[in-house]
Amino acid sequence: MSQERVVLITGAARRVGAGLVRYLHARGWRVVIHYRSNAAAATALATELNAARDGSALPVQLDLLDVARLPELVAAALTAFGRLDAVVNNASAFYPTPVGGFTETAWDELVGSNLKAPLFLAQAAAPALAQTGGCIVSIADIHADRPHPGLMLYTVAKAGLVAMTRGLARELAPKVRVNAVAPGANLWPDGGEVFDAAERERILGTIPLGRTGTPDDLAQAIAFLLDAPYLTGVVLPVDGGRSVVL
Ligand SMILES: NC(=O)c1ccc[n+]([C@@H]2O[C@H](COP(=O)([O-])OP(=O)(O)OC[C@H]3O[C@@H](n4cnc5c(N)ncnc54)[C@H](OP(=O)(O)O)[C@@H]3O)[C@@H](O)[C@H]2O)c1
Repeated sequence: MSQERVVLITGAARRVGAGLVRYLHARGWRVVIHYRSNAAAATALATELNAARDGSALPVQLDLLDVARLPELVAAALTAFGRLDAVVNNASAFYPTPVGGFTETAWDELVGSNLKAPLFLAQAAAPALAQTGGCIVSIADIHADRPHPGLMLYTVAKAGLVAMTRGLARELAPKVRVNAVAPGANLWPDGGEVFDAAERERILGTIPLGRTGTPDDLAQAIAFLLDAPYLTGVVLPVDGGRSVVL
């Protein structure tokens, strides 16, 4: 079995997930690049990384709402690479759901991608992770316990993801560690619907370190958790100090 570690990153074709793929790949990890709809971006990223190091990147398509198929992601990693050392739950649906207007479809998408899929994926991946002494890192949000107006279902889902992190840290110990990072403002969502220009300015003014985070800021924190043998059940804010003042 190759000694190069293998990480499965969900929703990794672009934005934060793609940044994390590049960061870990540059540090010797082999990567399973999960995506749902961005096939072109995921394939291009894998091609680029395989050109740099042959056989080091695998794109895999799946809608995470299809929970029964989540074990296929684990199987893909094991078939291609023979081992699985880490899962990073990055994929996320994100849009406003003001109270009075939300639907069961929105619940299914937001809770399905941000909570249900990570939990069932953890269950599917646990045996393979136990074999390598591996770990899970989920990307939560500082708003999981400091709700942002208008984001009810996303908030509920991320709060569940934090609870999952702590619960699984107990359940899967001592063989598998389970941690999370909680970003503040990192890459703004595509389009200006959720945070318009004025809201972005206001948020910027509440960040002690005076800037939004970058994918590399998050990747650095995640890489630390991947290699921290005595940390489990931790939710690490990566927010430029914003949670201190919220
Ligand atoms: N950006 C920020 O400032 C910020 C702040 C706080 C927390 N976070 C968290 O950090 C993580 C990354 O943020 P981001 O802004 O880069 O995320 P994003 O671009 O909004 O979403 C990442 C990916 O999630 C995938 N996805 C959504 N629903 C899915 C489903 N049902 N099945 C499979 N894949 C699905 C999409 O894949 P496809 O494109 O392939 O469809 C998408 O590209 C997320 O967990 C987010 O909640 C981000």
